[in-house]
Amino acid sequence: MSQILTIDDLKNQARRRVPKMFFDYADSGSWTESTYRANEEDFSKIKFRQRVLVDMDNRSLASTMIGETVAMPVALAPTGSTGMQHADGEMLAAQAAEEFGVPFTLSTMSICSIEDVAKVTKKPFWFQLYVMRDRDFVYNLIDRAKAAKCSALVLTVDLQMLAQRHKDLRNGLSAPPKMTPKTLFDIGRRPRWWMGMLGTPRRSFGNIVGHAKGVTDLASLSSWTAEQFDQSLSWDDVAWIKERWGGKLILKGILDKEDAIMAAKTGADALIVSNHGGRQLDGARSSISVLPEIVEAVGDKIEVHFDGGIRSGQDVLKALCLGAKGTYIGRPFLYGLGAMGKPGVTKTLEIIHKELDMTLALCGKRDITTVGKDMLCI
Ligand code: FNR
Repeated sequence: MSQILTIDDLKNQARRRVPKMFFDYADSGSWTESTYRANEEDFSKIKFRQRVLVDMDNRSLASTMIGETVAMPVALAPTGSTGMQHADGEMLAAQAAEEFGVPFTLSTMSICSIEDVAKVTKKPFWFQLYVMRDRDFVYNLIDRAKAAKCSALVLTVDLQMLAQRHKDLRNGLSAPPKMTPKTLFDIGRRPRWWMGMLGTPRRSFGNIVGHAKGVTDLASLSSWTAEQFDQSLSWDDVAWIKERWGGKLILKGILDKEDAIMAAKTGADALIVSNHGGRQLDGARSSISVLPEIVEAVGDKIEVHFDGGIRSGQDVLKALCLGAKGTYIGRPFLYGLGAMGKPGVTKTLEIIHKELDMTLALCGKRDITTVGKDMLCI
């Protein structure tokens, strides 16, 4: 563990521990993966101003996201099938986030259910909603999130259809996964992973299986999801979702300033500048390149959050300097989870926290809530 210093170290360890089919699921973008790559690459084009001889004692990374106090403004993004990286993945990640003092967001497409996660956590977590054509299912899902006392609903708006990811198709990642001799051999070589899976109760897309009409197993889930993502979803739908939910609402997947203005008009509490980690519209701009114009377009009408390509505390600070009030990490915590379960997620958060703290200091600042564009060379 002592040799793990960066998110890349965790990624390399996860690559060794997690079967290729499931590691690739996390480490992939849609089509040519150009947007996936740009998310990370564009961060390196942004440079800090180095400031010296400023009192940098007694620093604070504490902030708020949608009014909730956070140990640092970094939440865990919703990621589907997280339980494939490590047995009970969502439950372990939620516990690690809770102990660290940052928000955890559970995906609609999680392996552990809302109720599973609620059982092993004490504080409220956030729930991410995909809107399906079967509205009764969606109403029920919102009600289950309310019953579990989730404190925010994250409505994902950039996935009315699922973009194609070549790696998943080539690896035979479907529901259920295609188990070729090659895949079985690959899984067999990773005893930590499969022994973990055998050692825990069998869970299967617990928000959906047994709750959606006709979905009783993985095979029926596959055909159900193929036809259920609602391609007719529109801005008008946000109103009934907001009303049914009745709590804090975050719109995730905004990448255009006109959409950001529309999002602010819905009365949602926050929007997330996001291209789904480069997993939807390949060829779209990187999240970080769009962030400044969205912040400028909406002003203080809605809180602006950010995700996509964050691999260090420096990246978090750059997004905050450009106007994000909070950020999310997806793959970094999945790598931590795949590498070593719950301690790996904690390690991810520790690495980012340490880098964020030191970078803040070297930029001559003490309080994360006071950072701004003046700290960058732009
Ligand atoms: C995702 N993302 C995602 N988003 C969402 O709203 N619901 C979901 O179920 C998923 N599932 C998912 C699975 C995997 C494996 C990944 C990598 C991502 C997108 C996610 O919330 C977030 O937008 C990106 O992961 C952010 O980019 P980084 O941090 O991974 O670069």
